[in-house]
Amino acid sequence: MEKFVIKGGKPLTGEVTISGAKNAAVAILPATILAAGKCVIENLPDISDVAASLKILKALGAQIRMIDRNTYEIDTSMLVSTEVPAELSRKMRASYYFLGALLSRSGKAQVAMPGGCNLGPRPIDQHLKAFSALGATDSVDYGMISVRAHKLTGAHIFFDKVSVGATMNGMLSAVMAEGQTVLENCAKEPHVVDLANFLNMCGADIRGAGTDVIKVRGAQQMHGCTYSIIPDQIEAGSYMVAAAATGGDVLIKNVTPKHLEPITVKLQRAGAKVEEFDDAVRVSRVGELQPLKINTMPHPGFPTDMQPLMSVMLTVAKGTSTITEGIWDNRFRYADELAKMGANIQVDGQVAVIEGVAKLQPAPLHASDLRAGAALVVAALMTNGTSEITEIQHIERGYENIVAKLQALGADITRVETEPAIALTPAL
Ligand code: EPZ
Repeated sequence: MEKFVIKGGKPLTGEVTISGAKNAAVAILPATILAAGKCVIENLPDISDVAASLKILKALGAQIRMIDRNTYEIDTSMLVSTEVPAELSRKMRASYYFLGALLSRSGKAQVAMPGGCNLGPRPIDQHLKAFSALGATDSVDYGMISVRAHKLTGAHIFFDKVSVGATMNGMLSAVMAEGQTVLENCAKEPHVVDLANFLNMCGADIRGAGTDVIKVRGAQQMHGCTYSIIPDQIEAGSYMVAAAATGGDVLIKNVTPKHLEPITVKLQRAGAKVEEFDDAVRVSRVGELQPLKINTMPHPGFPTDMQPLMSVMLTVAKGTSTITEGIWDNRFRYADELAKMGANIQVDGQVAVIEGVAKLQPAPLHASDLRAGAALVVAALMTNGTSEITEIQHIERGYENIVAKLQALGADITRVETEPAIALTPAL
C-alpha cells in the first residue's frame, strides 16, 4: 500500500507543465484498432489508465513499442482477439471504448462491465443504443458485455442524454459503417473533438465534433498516423485551483486556455487573478477567497470533474457557497473527509452547501475516487500541518507525476510505501 504524506502551509509557486489528456488518451488508444496499421501517439500521459489501455491493446494482439515515456508506436495490423481480458477492463471505466472500436473493425467485441470511479450508477444504455441503431446486437452474461454485427449501416441516432462515452463510442462504431451516420445531442468536450481529429487523420470523415450534431460518413479503409494528444483540461484546472487555494502564483504551461474558460471564470469570481497566454495560464491570489455558486454541466458548462477541487477551495471562502452536481448521483463522497478537516459542508442529495471556515486542519484522509483524491491533496496543502492520504491508486489513475510536479512548486509531499500487514499465521 502507498500513501501521500503532505505537510501543508506553503503557497505553491513556480511553473508546472500539463500532460496529455487522460480522457482523450483512453479513447484514442482503443481507436488505433481502427487504423489497422502503425500509429505513433505522442503526449500520452504516463498514468495507470494509459498503462491499462496499452496492456489491453497488447492482449488483443497489437505490437507496442515505447519511443519515450509519453510516445508509443502501436501497430494494430494483426489482432488475435476481440475479447478484452476482464481483469484489465475492470480497472477502468474507459474500457468501453474497446467495444466500439472492435465492433467497427471486427464485427464483434466482448468487454467486462467497466470499472473506474464510483460516482453512482454508470449506465451504458446510450452506447448500446448507438451500436444497435447501426445494426449490432448486444447481450450481457456474467458481467461480460458482448456486441456483434454482420454489417454496420449508417443511421440517425438521437442520444437521450448528453454522454461523453456514448458520443465517442457512436463515432468509433460509425466510422466504417456503410453510408452516413448522424449523431444528435452529442457531448462537446475537448476530448470528443480530439478523438474525431485523430480518426480523421486516420482516414475517417467526421464533421461537427464539438457541436451537438456529428456527421460521420463511413470510410472504406483507415490507416495509421502520428498524433499528439491535447493537454489535460482537468489536470490543468487542478493546478489552477491548487495555486488559488494556497494563495500561490503558478504558471501552468502546455494548456489550451479556451478549454479552461469555465474554470478561469469561476476562479476570477472567487478572487484569483488568471492571466491567459497562447498555451499557458498564470494563476495567483493575494486577497480573500469569495464564495461561489457552481452548477456542473456538460461542456462548455462547469466540468463535474473539477467539482471536488472547487469545493475544497471554497471551504475557506468568506461566506456560503453552493455546489449543484448535475452529472453524477454520488460525487460528494469526499465531504466526510473535509468535515474531518474542520470544513463546514452539508450535502443534501445533489447539492452541497459550504460555509467558509478560517482554516482547514490536517487529518488522516482517504481518497474515494480520482478527482476526490486530487481535491484532498489540495486540501492537505491548505493546512498548517501534516496529513496522510491513503488509496492513492485512484489519484495515480489520472495525474502524471503528481508528487514531482507539486514538489517543483514548493509543496512538501512525499509518496510513502507502507508496510504490508503482518500475517497473523506464520508461514510454515
Ligand atoms: C466521462 O465519463 C469522463 N470519463 C468522466 O471523468 C466525466 O466525469 C464524465 O465524462 C462527464 O464529463 C472518461 O472520459 C473516461 P458520461 P463518461 O457518459 O463518459 C449518464 C474523471 O474523473 N449516462 O458523459 O462515463 C451518466 O450516468 C472521470 O476523469 C447514461 O445515462 O460520462 C451520467 O449521469 C470521472 N447512459 C451522464 O450520462 C449512458 O449510456 C454523463 O455521463 C451513458 C451515460
